[in-house]
Amino acid sequence: WTVDVDKCAKTSCALVNQAAELLNEANKEIRVFETKANNQDLVTVTDRQVEELLVSGLRREFPEHVYIGEEGTSDHATGRQLTNQPTWIIDPIDGTVNFVHGCPYNCISVALWLNRQPELAVCYCPTLQLKLTARRKCGCYLNGRQVRTSGQRELRRSLVLHEMHASNMGAQHKDTLWAMSVNLFCKAQTLRSTGSAVMDLCLVAMGAADAYVEFLPHCWDVAAGALLVREAGGAVMDPAGGELDIMSRRVLATATPELGCQMVQLLADSQIYHKRDDEP
Ligand code: IPD
Repeated sequence: WTVDVDKCAKTSCALVNQAAELLNEANKEIRVFETKANNQDLVTVTDRQVEELLVSGLRREFPEHVYIGEEGTSDHATGRQLTNQPTWIIDPIDGTVNFVHGCPYNCISVALWLNRQPELAVCYCPTLQLKLTARRKCGCYLNGRQVRTSGQRELRRSLVLHEMHASNMGAQHKDTLWAMSVNLFCKAQTLRSTGSAVMDLCLVAMGAADAYVEFLPHCWDVAAGALLVREAGGAVMDPAGGELDIMSRRVLATATPELGCQMVQLLADSQIYHKRDDEP
């Protein structure tokens, strides 16, 4: 497969700008939500409107491409599958709980994957006016200015980001996560949580945080941000040290490969495996 990446970049950026306007308007209103899997998994009318705007706009230009979106878009009868085909992976609002509370850490995330590799990424947090873009082998840009990760190599000097889920995991997983958080808190300089996986990856890419680890993110939380971090000079991998697999619901992103090695060692006893995103 080959694609016109220039056209893809131009089209996706224009659509994300339109989606950001929609999100800004919605930020002025009371946000009514529904719960999905649990009390921490929410959806609003705006999530659905933004996904519809992005998917229909992209489909008009690229009808032969495949689409995976958080709010139900999926082109494969067997569910979400990452193949060699050009695949757009979309999170209309990442950080929906934040959005519902009026907390500004929420982002639109759009990625194009080709031959199972990330090709293009746009993440936009309109409330904070942070727009990060990347193309494979072309660097990472924040509002048009090239950015790099912090270059941090030492865990004891690192600001580490970590997202926790409580509602949908068993007691044993909760204990593992809790122990890991305490361990990270003691070994890193500090531990933070923004409530948006996409925001976390943006912060690592722009050098405002040094690492991010999460068990249970979905492919749409990671697909764009992973390219941002790589293009900014960072490393993105499985928390056990292997290659990143965006369907596995596991991710570790670090400012440098050296910091990645330290994190992998620290996480060795805290691995969590869950049902994959591509399992029916
Ligand atoms: C969630 C947020 C949260 C992360 C979850 C995501 P959503 O996305 O990014 O911080 O911990 O893994 O699913 O549901 O707000 O789009």
